[in-house]
Amino acid sequence: MTESTGGSRDQGRELEKMKGNLIVGQSGGPTAVINSSLAGVIKAARKAGIKRVYGMHYGIEGFLQEDIIDLDEYFTTSHDLSMLKRTPSAFLGTCRYKLPAVEGHEDVYEKIFEILDKYNIEFFLYNGGNDSMDTIKMLSDYAAAHGKKQKFMGIPKTIDNDLPMTDHCPGYGSSAKYIATSMKEIIRDNESYGVSKPTICIVEIMGRHAGWLTATAALSKDVDCSGPDLIYLPEVPFDINSFVDKIRELAKVKKSVVVAVSEGLKTADGKFVCELGTVNDHVDAFGHKQLAGTAAYLANVVTQETGLKSRYIEFSSLQRCAAHLASRTDADEAYNVGFLAAKAAFEGHSGMMIAIEVKSREPYIVEYDMYDIHGIANVERKVPKNWITNGGTFVSDEYLDYVRPLIMGSLQPYTAAGVPIHMTLAKKKKRSSK
Ligand code: F6P
Repeated sequence: MTESTGGSRDQGRELEKMKGNLIVGQSGGPTAVINSSLAGVIKAARKAGIKRVYGMHYGIEGFLQEDIIDLDEYFTTSHDLSMLKRTPSAFLGTCRYKLPAVEGHEDVYEKIFEILDKYNIEFFLYNGGNDSMDTIKMLSDYAAAHGKKQKFMGIPKTIDNDLPMTDHCPGYGSSAKYIATSMKEIIRDNESYGVSKPTICIVEIMGRHAGWLTATAALSKDVDCSGPDLIYLPEVPFDINSFVDKIRELAKVKKSVVVAVSEGLKTADGKFVCELGTVNDHVDAFGHKQLAGTAAYLANVVTQETGLKSRYIEFSSLQRCAAHLASRTDADEAYNVGFLAAKAAFEGHSGMMIAIEVKSREPYIVEYDMYDIHGIANVERKVPKNWITNGGTFVSDEYLDYVRPLIMGSLQPYTAAGVPIHMTLAKKKKRSSK
């Protein structure tokens, strides 16, 4: 499967025979380029002559309430799709919703297929991470077991970059670009004070159980920036005493110490570091705890133990909604996986996810493939141990070679009155008719 933003005329004619409609949903944490995938799906559907393109309002959760949007009402010109690509967060709205096991919940599945039939939907596309791919797995398995005509395809997306089979995940490159850029700015700021005592700055980065995103802090290191002093990933058990000792040693020789920490750091006994501080009890449908407060807790410990001034920064949702710093490479790939997932569904594929294959990193060349959803749903891919260096406090050059191409290029926002403008659902939202 090669990259395609268009498809040949022959393919177009072949796909024109399609009778059924298409629905697309967004699921899990948003990204800066998730809507580029949506644009890719819409484009592929238009090219194939699909009659109606529907969107799930708030993913499968909204779909179960028959909360369905007719996307044809929103995207009438190519400028609309360009605007969509430049719009952060999930345009359709998202959810964290786990479909129950079929046994004992047949009514849920019957309802889903009833709605699909009601709207004559033949193609079901779902854009998300490893938890969201579970929805594709459950529905494609059910369809196969019950002789249903619908095709289900997964579109990869997650800033966490932890989906297996694909070289990397759409959304990751743009978050990486934001983090690399912000780290450079933070490090510069932290170095401002010359004569006073050193300042310790702890920066918390998302990624849950995988350190891919935290590792991107290393991209800030260059001739004009020393980069973070330490990087802590969740792949390595975290030792608070050793962490404080390292800060103490660095502060003897440096006036500025900047540390990147993953929100998902755990101590050797399996406790999240963020739970050692103020506890946030929220747990989502997949059993994931809300992780936040790691940097705040550690900054406090540093000051208590060393008497040094400390500050913490939590990138929080900024790192996944910064469309003004989106990577062009990432946006293009997000568009392509959306386009190709729809095209694969039209060709009869089901229960698969599109994956990115990097044929060469220098020059950067990608191709696309697809893999069985069973090896993907609910599986988390971690940072390889040999890419974690310095006793678990930095990342290797090999990792940097892996990530660098993903942040290349920019997708400039459209602006008005000095700020970016976005597509919105709210004002135009209309319930669809069949
Ligand atoms: O799934 C991506 C992600 O951004 C994780 O990195 C993070 O832990 C989580 O989502 C946060 O989710 P929410 O916004 O639902 O709290």
